[in-house]
Amino acid sequence: MTKRVVMVAAVARNRVIGNGPDIPWRIPGEQAEFKRLTTGHVLVMGRATYESIGRPLPGRTTIVLTRDPSWSPSRLAGSHLRTGADGVLVAHSLTDALAQAALLPGDVIVAGGAQVYAEAIGLASEQVISEVPLEPEGDAFYPEIDPAVWEEVGREPFDGYERVTWLRRERLAG
Ligand SMILES: NC(=O)c1ccc[n+]([C@@H]2O[C@H](COP(=O)([O-])OP(=O)(O)OC[C@H]3O[C@@H](n4cnc5c(N)ncnc54)[C@H](OP(=O)(O)O)[C@@H]3O)[C@@H](O)[C@H]2O)c1
Repeated sequence: MTKRVVMVAAVARNRVIGNGPDIPWRIPGEQAEFKRLTTGHVLVMGRATYESIGRPLPGRTTIVLTRDPSWSPSRLAGSHLRTGADGVLVAHSLTDALAQAALLPGDVIVAGGAQVYAEAIGLASEQVISEVPLEPEGDAFYPEIDPAVWEEVGREPFDGYERVTWLRRERLAG
């Protein structure tokens, strides 16, 4: 069976997702929801996002994308290299990351940042977007969601944001 590849992001009205290494807002509860949605699954994220978090997220395997053949998570102060539930693996292309994820239990969660979202939107099956009603300054953006390709299938209010679920239309048809 083909794995679900789900993009999970918090996106402002102006499509900003980040400013430098940071996310330019703080919404109590949103991170807990991210944890609830992603625990038991495989996170795929860019090296910049991984380094801004600075550690593996518990209960999830993280696959870090980098083009640097010498990069290792153990290079970060205080981090540890483990495989398993909260382990960190390294991939050198999105295809490589998906091939590694295929061997692990759970869905593939594309967790950013901007570079990785821009590439993965072409092959993801689903997007779960926290729509944040702010227009902050930023330098990292979420790609446009083309309504010819994606259908909004759910919208739920949360405290301080709305969670919108999009499915790829060809997936709906199949
Ligand atoms: N709001 C949200 O939900 C959310 C979520 C995540 C991140 N963010 C924000 O997004 C920003 C970071 O985004 P970003 O675009 O600067 O960085 P990023 O996508 O996290 O990481 C970019 C790095 O990933 C590696 N990479 C990307 N595509 C690759 C590929 N196809 N093959 C191999 N390696 C690849 C490269 O690493 P090397 O340079 O090592 O080769 C590249 O420099 C931050 O502001 C962060 O806070 C926001």
